[in-house]
Amino acid sequence: MNKVLITGCNGQLGRALNKLLANKDIEIINTDVDNLDICDAAQVSALIKKEQPDTIINCAAHTAVDKCETDRENAARINALGPKNLAAAAKETGAQLVQVSTDYVFDGNASKPYVETDTPCPQSVYGSTKLDGERAVMEIMDKYYIVRTAWLYGDGNNFVKTMLRLAKERDTITVVNDQFGSPTSAMELGRMILHIVDSGEYGIYHATCEGMTNWHDFAKAIFTLAKSNVNLIPVTTAEYPASVAKRPAYSVLENAKLNSQGAYRMKQWEDALEEYMAEMGFMG
Ligand SMILES: NC(=O)c1ccc[n+]([C@@H]2O[C@H](COP(=O)([O-])OP(=O)(O)OC[C@H]3O[C@@H](n4cnc5c(N)ncnc54)[C@H](OP(=O)(O)O)[C@@H]3O)[C@@H](O)[C@H]2O)c1
Repeated sequence: MNKVLITGCNGQLGRALNKLLANKDIEIINTDVDNLDICDAAQVSALIKKEQPDTIINCAAHTAVDKCETDRENAARINALGPKNLAAAAKETGAQLVQVSTDYVFDGNASKPYVETDTPCPQSVYGSTKLDGERAVMEIMDKYYIVRTAWLYGDGNNFVKTMLRLAKERDTITVVNDQFGSPTSAMELGRMILHIVDSGEYGIYHATCEGMTNWHDFAKAIFTLAKSNVNLIPVTTAEYPASVAKRPAYSVLENAKLNSQGAYRMKQWEDALEEYMAEMGFMG
């Protein structure tokens, strides 16, 4: 990779990629909605033709899962039409495309980790629009990496920051303990994406940190590292006020394709969390 165009560069993953690429001999074209709206096909095509990146990493998305339920049109534009436009432009210039996707493409009813070949069955507008984005890319071009991740946190709004904020505002916090997944830091995901784009092995990838947990135990690990004394109470999803979008009960992804290629293992989620908390100055 010599020249990379990043969309949604101000988001969590976009920022992590910029940090990781900072001292590398790679030209970076950073874009976000103010200078490249991925929903605008003409703008996307013109910029990609002008810049001729060899690699495009689409970090732009409508990630507000509950808001997507009531903002269907926008969710479809950003999560499906956007990747379609990028794929069409990439095909024209011969660039390879990384389309970042999500565990929400699955129904969350499994009892063992989802692998890349499992059949998607999204249960939310966010999940179904992200799946439409995957499909649009696969229909249009061959040189794609669809990289599904989960429970992402980085420099932006995320669960870790929400927990730390709530711990300052409240004495007691209740968090569900019956939804399972793999917290993944944007830095770890960014590192793996940079590994994948150099492989030339196109296709669908799962890329999450190793291990699994539930939201309550994730919060517990955050408060332990932050040395917070907040009273953390586990509850079931049924006991908790219902969220607008349906949350998957089990959305653990197995990095099966990466493992079959003999790629290095991503960090254990607890280790990635500690790295993040230290970097952000969140340790107690
Ligand atoms: N966050 C998670 O827990 C999670 C889990 C699984 C998968 N993922 C996937 O991982 C990827 C990265 O997520 P993230 O958490 O880094 O996202 P993020 O922090 O929400 O960043 C998304 C970025 O895209 C920008 N954007 C929105 N609409 C755009 C448009 N039309 N054109 C160009 N840019 C636009 C946003 O700008 P504004 O802020 O101004 O809207 C923001 O800077 C996404 O594909 C997401 O679906 C995320």
